[in-house]
Amino acid sequence: MTGGGFATSANGVEFEAKITPIVIISCIMAATGGLMFGYDVGVSGGVTSMPDFLEKFFPVVYRKVHAGTEKDSNYCKYDNQGLQLFTSSLYLAGLTATFFASYTTRTRGRRLTMLIAGVFFIIGVALNAGAQDLAMLIAGRILLGCGVGFANQAVPLFLSEIAPTRIRGGLNILFQLNITIGILFANLVNYGTAKIKGGWGWRLSLGLAGIPALLLTVGALLVTETPNSLVERGRLDEGKAVLRRIRGTDNVEPEFADLLEASRLAKEVKHPFRNLLQRKNRPQLVIAVALQIFQQCTGINAIMFYAPVLFNTVGFGSDASLYSAVVTGAVNVLSTVVSIYSVDKVGRRFLLLEAGVQMFFSQVVIAIILGIKVTDHSTNLSKSFAILVVVMICTYVAAFAWSWGPLGWLIPSETFPLETRSAGQSVTVCVNLLFTFIIAQAFLSMLCHFKFGIFIFFSAWVLVMSFFVMFLLPETKNVPIEEMTERVWKKHWFWARFMDDHNDQVFVSGKKSNGKSNGFDPSTRL
Ligand code: BGC
Repeated sequence: MTGGGFATSANGVEFEAKITPIVIISCIMAATGGLMFGYDVGVSGGVTSMPDFLEKFFPVVYRKVHAGTEKDSNYCKYDNQGLQLFTSSLYLAGLTATFFASYTTRTRGRRLTMLIAGVFFIIGVALNAGAQDLAMLIAGRILLGCGVGFANQAVPLFLSEIAPTRIRGGLNILFQLNITIGILFANLVNYGTAKIKGGWGWRLSLGLAGIPALLLTVGALLVTETPNSLVERGRLDEGKAVLRRIRGTDNVEPEFADLLEASRLAKEVKHPFRNLLQRKNRPQLVIAVALQIFQQCTGINAIMFYAPVLFNTVGFGSDASLYSAVVTGAVNVLSTVVSIYSVDKVGRRFLLLEAGVQMFFSQVVIAIILGIKVTDHSTNLSKSFAILVVVMICTYVAAFAWSWGPLGWLIPSETFPLETRSAGQSVTVCVNLLFTFIIAQAFLSMLCHFKFGIFIFFSAWVLVMSFFVMFLLPETKNVPIEEMTERVWKKHWFWARFMDDHNDQVFVSGKKSNGKSNGFDPSTRL
């Protein structure tokens, strides 16, 4: 099962590295970590649209949906803070857990952090699947959120440290691909379980998340700690022994020396957040934060979380709603694959700008159709218009999935220099989860107030972000991380002004250094 080969370090040195069984198990871990996250993203909208679930936990919403009174607008059927909290609580918990997770990842290692995540997931799934009341349901979602916070911190880091350098970038996008597969899987499960008579279909939907949760837990028990983490915690001999095992060769001295040096440099960076706020790091920071806000303001999670509810709102039956969600989920997966193949060929800017046009156009068309056909008290969406809405939503999802979805994560991970990379990555993750939470908590209320105009609202954001890309986002395709300053920032019409040399300093151990590094510290997405 092992394939021979050499891996290149960030400073261009070749290390001997084979694709060993450990590396393969690691890829499977990536799959379960991403699947688990995606499943949680996709599952809530489907169960929310199941009558038995609504009747048990949200009787007020159930009555509005099934015995709508004159005064309830179609667009407001699902407008309920508790219902939104069922979805959003996961992201708030994830955001909070990230702070603890970054501490355990550093001091207790990646493996233990993944184990903690697995345990959170298992208890969360059990509470959700067996929920008797709303409190149990929300408590379960909060625990799942803690699992997401811990897993998403440790798994990508674990992967990038265990895998040979040449497949690290691929693993970054693999994680995103697995999120989309998790979402699709949840949509498919919901479609199946909604047909179960007896009112327990939603329990099965929530309970099936137990499979990736168990896999992650067992995986964490089986895998080894990463050499980087062992070295970071002073266990040098163990670190070297593990490096030999995972690389499948005794010839690990050069890579081990590189690793020691990287760890020494990383320890010298005493004020990562202060470094991050320095003027010369402004472009990366502004871009990373803006990309996260923009990614969520495309409105993607309105679709990912609430597609079945949305389809129901515009007059689709329960079955058609869940079926349509499966279709959009499949488009999401396939289009992410398109991104993997094209991102290094056509470049980041092209994908983002093309997607901007496509998303703007599809959202405006959706708003026009809904504006004409779905009023407060009547829906006369004929079959052909209904199909057109689904086609437009798919057009929109496809554009997102080959642009803002993966690139929102990829670009920050490839622009921060070593001194600020882990701090930059934490900020990226936190801003993303914060805005994911806001959309999850606000969307159904916004739909109630803005009605079809919600799509105009998101399309206006798409316009703003496309201008941002056009003027302020430089192309980073094929630019090695160490050359980013010279080749990208110093040449940019706007960002160049932040690159004056006298600012080129880094806070290390209370002193200042010139900021040169070997660029190790693998990039991770949350
Ligand atoms: C986003 C998630 C979203 C997913 C959809 C990710 O890049 O961060 O919020 O649910 O894409 O595929």
